[in-house]
Amino acid sequence: MSRSTAKQGRCARIVALALYLTAGVRGADYLSPSALVADSKGGSLYIAEATAKQVAVLDLALDEVTRTFSVPDEPSGLALSRDGSRLYVTCGSAQGRVHVAHPRSGESLDTLPVGHTPTAPVLSPDGKRLYVCNSLDDTVSVIDTEHRREIARIRVSREPVAASVTPDAKWLYVGNQLPDGPADAGPVACKVSVINIETLSVDVSIVLPNGSTGLRGLAVSPDGSFVFVSHLLSRYTVPTTQLERGWINTNAITIIDAADRKLIETVLLDDVDYGAANPWAVACTADGKYLCVTHAGTHELSLTDVDAMLDKIKSHRERQSRDARSSGSGPGASYGYGGESVSDIPNQLSFLHGIRRRVRLGGRGPRALVVVDHKAYVAEYFTDSITMVDMGHKSRVETTSIALGPKKQMTAVRRGEMLFHDALLCFQGWQSCASCHPADGRPDALNWDLLNDGLGNPKNTKSLLLAHETPPAMITGVRDTAEAAVRAGIRHIQFATCPEEDAAAIDEYLKSLKPAPSPYLVKGELSGSAQRGRQVFEKAKCSSCHNGPLHTDLKKYDVGTGRGREKGLEFDTPTLVEVWRTAPYLYDGRAVTIKEVLTKYNPDDKHGATSDLTERQINDLAEFVLSQ
Ligand code: HEC
Ligand code: HEC
Repeated sequence: MSRSTAKQGRCARIVALALYLTAGVRGADYLSPSALVADSKGGSLYIAEATAKQVAVLDLALDEVTRTFSVPDEPSGLALSRDGSRLYVTCGSAQGRVHVAHPRSGESLDTLPVGHTPTAPVLSPDGKRLYVCNSLDDTVSVIDTEHRREIARIRVSREPVAASVTPDAKWLYVGNQLPDGPADAGPVACKVSVINIETLSVDVSIVLPNGSTGLRGLAVSPDGSFVFVSHLLSRYTVPTTQLERGWINTNAITIIDAADRKLIETVLLDDVDYGAANPWAVACTADGKYLCVTHAGTHELSLTDVDAMLDKIKSHRERQSRDARSSGSGPGASYGYGGESVSDIPNQLSFLHGIRRRVRLGGRGPRALVVVDHKAYVAEYFTDSITMVDMGHKSRVETTSIALGPKKQMTAVRRGEMLFHDALLCFQGWQSCASCHPADGRPDALNWDLLNDGLGNPKNTKSLLLAHETPPAMITGVRDTAEAAVRAGIRHIQFATCPEEDAAAIDEYLKSLKPAPSPYLVKGELSGSAQRGRQVFEKAKCSSCHNGPLHTDLKKYDVGTGRGREKGLEFDTPTLVEVWRTAPYLYDGRAVTIKEVLTKYNPDDKHGATSDLTERQINDLAEFVLSQ
C-alpha cells in the first residue's frame, strides 16, 4: 500500500468516525416519519421524514422504499395534487414555507412563504386552493395553487394542527390543539374552527367538552356527513390521586355533524382498565365503515365500526331520555364538567366495547396515518418504521412491519424523547408525560391539582423548556431541581417505576429543547414597539426579578397574585423565554394575555410598577415580553 492510500484510508476512517459522532450526538441519522400521503391510484406512499429532512417514496407493491429526496427543512406535512404532478411539503419554523416538489423526480418546483411552523396542508377538491395550518401563529394560510401565492391568512383559535375540507368544498374544518381561554374558569377546552371557504372567514368555533386538549387529528367522513376529531379529555377538576378508570386523563374522539356544524357526541377510546393514550391521526376507510385512530402513547391503531357507534349513541340517548322522563329528573345525567352536554357518554369507558378493535403495532410512536383501500399505513416516529394493517379479512386483521431504514442505536436524547411520549411508562397506559406537556414539553393550558404541594390548590401546567436551567422546579419551588420533578412525575403522576437510566434520558431530552423564535419578532429583531418596551421593562423594575438572559433570578416572591388560601404565598420567578407560547399566565392560569398580568392582576404594583404606565407603554411592554 502506498503512503498516500494509507493516509487516505486513515482520513476516511477519521471522517467516518466524525460523521458517526456528530450523527450520534445530534441524532441526524434518524428518519422520524411524521406525515404520509398516498397517490390516488394507491401505487405509492410519500413519507415526510422529519429529522432526516427528506421525503421517502414507498412502493406499495413492493412494500419498499424506492427513492428519497431532500427538502430544505424538517418536513411536517404533505399534500399531493390529484393528478400526482405536485407534492406540497410544509416545513420550517418562524419562516415557514411550503416546498413544492415534483413527486417523481423530487425536483424542486417552487417555495411559497407561509406562517410560523406550518403543518397539515390540505387541498380543495378541485386542487385550486391549498390550506395550511400555521401552528405557532394561530392562523391558516390560503394559497392559490395556480398563481402560486398566498391569498388570505385566517386567524383561528390556538395552535391549529389538523384540517380537512368537506367533499362539497364548502367548509374547511380546522382542529386547534390547545384551549385559548383562562384555566380557572370553565369550560376549558380546545376548539374546532369551521371556515366558510367562500367568504374565507371563521363561521363558527365548536367548543369541545370541558377538559378537551391535545387535539391532534381531524377527518371528514367520505360522504361528508361527519367530522371526527381526536383529543384528550382531561379530568383536571379532580386531584391527581389515582389513575384507575381514567381519573386523570382520558382519550377521546368527538363526532361533529358536518352540515349543522354542531358537536354530536364525545366518545372515549379507552377501556375500563387500560387507557388508549395520546390519540393522534384520524382517517376513515373509503367506504366510511371504519374510523381509524393512531395511539401514539400505547402504540396501537383503533378500528371503530362507525355505524355501530352512531347507532349506539342514538339508542343510548333514547334510553337516557326515557329514564329521565320516568324518574322526572330532567334531561338525564349531566356530564358534570360544566359543559353544555347533558349526555353521560363522555364518562363511559366501555362505550365502544364490542364495536372497536385495538390493534397492537410493531413500532413506537405511531402518529401519521393514511388509508389506501382496506389497508391502513401507520408511520411510527421513533422506530423509523411503517406498520401496514390489513382490514380486508372478515374476522381478523393482519399487520406487516416495514423498516424505512437500518435500525439505529438511540442517543439518550432520542430515548428520552421516546419515553416522554410513551404511555407504557404509566400504570395502565392512561397517559404519557406528553399528555399534559403536549408539544415538545410545552403546557396543555390546564390547571392540575397535583399532590406535591397539598390538595385543593390547582396549578397551571408549566412549560418544560429551560426547566433544568431554572431551578427550583414547580411554581411553588417544592422540588429543588427539574431532575427531582421528573422523577416525582414518573412516581406520583404516572404511578410507575423506571430505571434511573430512563429518568436520566428524559432529563437529556428536556435539556435539548430549544426555544422557538417569537412570532412577534420582525425579521428576527425586536419591533419598534418591543424596543420601547425594553425600556419600560427597566423603568417598571421588571428586571429586578426577571433578569439575566433567561429573565429570572431563580428566587421566590409574593407578587400579590396569591388568592384564597394561597394569599401571600411566594412563587418562583418564571423565565419569560417563549412566554408568547404558554398562555394562560400566573400560577392558576387566570390571565389570558400579558396585558392582563400587567394591569387587571397587578392592582397594587406588587408585580412591577405598572399602574403609572400609559396605555402605550403597557402595549410596548407586553410586546417586549411577547418577543422573548
Ligand atoms: C396530569 C398532568 C401532568 C402529567 C401527566 C405530567 N405533568 Fe409535569 N407538570 C404538570 C403540572 C400541572 C406542572 C406544574 C405544577 C406546579 O408548578 O406546581 C408540571 C411541572 C413539571 C415540571 C417542573 C417544571 C418547572 O420548570 O418547574 C417537570 C420537570 C415536569 N412537570 C415533568 C414531567 C414529566 C417528566 C412527566 C412524565 C413522567 C410529567 N411531567 C407528567 C402536569 C403534569
Ligand atoms: C418581585 C419580583 C418580580 C417583579 C418585580 C416582576 N415579576 Fe413577573 N413574576 C414574578 C413571579 C414570582 C411570578 C409568578 C407569579 C404567579 O405565578 O402568580 C411572575 C410572573 C410573571 C409573568 C407570568 C409568566 C407565566 O408564565 O405565567 C409575566 C408575563 C411576568 N411576570 C412579567 C413581568 C413584568 C413585565 C414585570 C414588570 C412589570 C414583572 N414581571 C415584574 C416575579 C416578579
